[in-house]
Amino acid sequence: MKRSLVDHTIQIAKQAFDAIGFKLPPFAFWTVDDWKNMGPEVDEIRKCMLGWDVTDFGQGNFPKLGRTLFTLRNGSTQYDSGKDYAEKLILDPEGQRPPLHFHRHKMEDIINRGGGNILIRLYKADPQGQCSDDDFTLQVDGQTRNFSPGEQLRLEPGQSVCMPPGTIHQFWGEQGTGIKIDGVGYTVSGEVSRVCDDWNDNCWLEPCERFCTIDEDQPAKHHLVHEYPA
Ligand SMILES: [Fe+2]
Repeated sequence: MKRSLVDHTIQIAKQAFDAIGFKLPPFAFWTVDDWKNMGPEVDEIRKCMLGWDVTDFGQGNFPKLGRTLFTLRNGSTQYDSGKDYAEKLILDPEGQRPPLHFHRHKMEDIINRGGGNILIRLYKADPQGQCSDDDFTLQVDGQTRNFSPGEQLRLEPGQSVCMPPGTIHQFWGEQGTGIKIDGVGYTVSGEVSRVCDDWNDNCWLEPCERFCTIDEDQPAKHHLVHEYPA
């Protein structure tokens, strides 16, 4: 994935988050040059991997398969912040998905923070980690709802769903909805969860590189969460 595309999608995310009135913390705006003056006082940001996270999952088709996230808070096995929770903001361009996946440990609420609608495709994982044929229930804004395998849940702004570990999911911005930036509709989702361990707790059902290789076609403006200097 090209660095120019990484920087471009971060710029769009800043605009979309601003458009829904979600203010980001100062470290969202720190540049690669700013980081040269940072010491151990920002170890929590480095070690808990707070900040910008952009990936095309190594598949080279970012408009269809990709994710732009900003991690606001998280715990880590590398740094004792005492935090056992996490929060992220996610940019949902219409039609862009992550691969189908589930988590073994992380329980997460996906919240539509505004813009347009989010569509979530859902299955229960079977013991082999594949899509089960069984029906299941989930809590949607505190209400128990029945789901059939592969059912799509639509979340309008303000709505949320709670996904326990072992829930296979994939979500994206609904076509024709969202805040228009350069002709594309963007929705913003939030994730409130247990600690997010992106190195060990993602079980993918499709080919996937969680942190992809970046082609440095221009100097980076921001470090991504796995690129902070030690
Ligand atoms: Fe997930």
